[in-house]
Amino acid sequence: TQEVEAFVIQNKEALEQFRISYTGRKGQIADLFDDIKNIAPEQRKAYGQEVNKLKELAQTKFNQMQEQLEASSNGQQKLNIDFTLPPVPDTLGTRHPLTVVREEIIRIFERIGFNLSEGPEIEDDWHNFTALNFPENHPARDMQDTFFVEGNMLLRTHTSSVQVRVMENQKPPIRTLSPGRVFRNEAISARAHCVFHQVEGLFIDENVSFADLKQTLYYFVQEMFGPETKIRFRPSFFPFTEPSAEIDISCLICKGAGCNICKHSGWVEIGGSGMVDPEVLRNCGIDPEKYSGFAFGMGIERITMLKYQIKDLRLFTENDVRFLRQFESL
Ligand code: PHE
Repeated sequence: TQEVEAFVIQNKEALEQFRISYTGRKGQIADLFDDIKNIAPEQRKAYGQEVNKLKELAQTKFNQMQEQLEASSNGQQKLNIDFTLPPVPDTLGTRHPLTVVREEIIRIFERIGFNLSEGPEIEDDWHNFTALNFPENHPARDMQDTFFVEGNMLLRTHTSSVQVRVMENQKPPIRTLSPGRVFRNEAISARAHCVFHQVEGLFIDENVSFADLKQTLYYFVQEMFGPETKIRFRPSFFPFTEPSAEIDISCLICKGAGCNICKHSGWVEIGGSGMVDPEVLRNCGIDPEKYSGFAFGMGIERITMLKYQIKDLRLFTENDVRFLRQFESL
């Protein structure tokens, strides 16, 4: 009885096995009935009753299992898939426009010997400000509304922090490019965001001059935006470069005719640049008597917007596929 109860039937084969061993004409239960002739006559009635009960139990179990198997195989039939139906099309993702442009910038500078360097997004005050000649309490620190984390830790406001790390750890000649995410406490609008991307360039060697800076950026602008593009340097101020210059390119949208992007000036700013301040070289353990260098920093969003005529910065972070799919072919 226990054996019959414990039997588990999961498929047709097991069900047939069950039938052969128990309920079938040559099964164990039939054998038990045959044995009745060997039982003492006064016990035959009780014996017969017991074997009958067992026979009923086995038969009920057999019927139940048969029903269950039938039900589940019907279920499987319902799941059957029509393989002649056309498939749901497979859609591939696309590279983000900022990725496309970052990689292009890297390729352009790679050709003139720049390597890549990276640094942390959570930075300390030294690498983001102090080593870069931002004096304590100097209003220059307010220029870049900073997200402070705790103590002297903050979210880097520019990738210039990476140039400090590279100079601290490598000897000139240095030719490096550091792309990365930066953070500033600004209200989000079509033209500003609290998270954006920069790429910083640094070139340190003997006898590096402002002419090298101009020629390098001229080469970049021509490669990036095409040979029609003009470049202009506007005197500016950064605590870590002297002299400093803002980099403008001729407006690609209106080509000088006047539009909202260039505010009818015909020029748009793509970044800042300058000769690395001797004090910064000294802070990073490089001898300013022997070496000089230039640095520049550009916004990747700004360059992407100019190159692909994107009018709202927020499109980069909204992940609307109608926007992203437009870059499918790049
Ligand atoms: N770090 C500056 C900024 O974020 C840009 C810059 C980099 C300027 C290197 C000069 C030299 O505005």
